[in-house]
Amino acid sequence: MRFTSIAAAALAVVPSALAANFAVNVGQGNTFAFSPTSITGAVAGDTITFTFMSRNHSATTTTFTTPCPPPDGGVAGGFDTGFHSATGTDQPQAVVTLTSADTHWVACRQAAGGHCRMGMTFAVNPTASQTYAQFLANARAS
Ligand SMILES: *[C@@H]1O[C@H](CO)[C@@H](O)[C@H](O)[C@H]1NC(C)=O
Repeated sequence: MRFTSIAAAALAVVPSALAANFAVNVGQGNTFAFSPTSITGAVAGDTITFTFMSRNHSATTTTFTTPCPPPDGGVAGGFDTGFHSATGTDQPQAVVTLTSADTHWVACRQAAGGHCRMGMTFAVNPTASQTYAQFLANARAS
């Protein structure tokens, strides 16, 4: 009986899974790119920290088939960091908290979709049937 209560107490202090943070650089090295270009395994409660490293960009959810331009405010169930301008050594950050493990297609909405069409795109949990590579191709063509 004593052993059982110790085991129960030990179980009680086992921490539940902690939320993960994914660090994503935006415009690193003055490129029109997100780095990394996709993340996988993201679940509800996880965060994405976007660090804006050059120019003036956004991280905005859009659609797989018609990525560019991403709509102002993003798509339903998605997010939009708004515009963040990196000047000199100031590299602003925006943190997005995911509310599900859903797939999100993301692009910069600067220049009426111009950055998006240059391939400035990012994916959260792309799938086997909807890949990041196809999303990028859709962006360049849209
Ligand atoms: C960033 O871009 C947006 C949209 O083009 C513009 O409204 C805003 O003034 C820009 N910010 C800076 C600091 O240039």
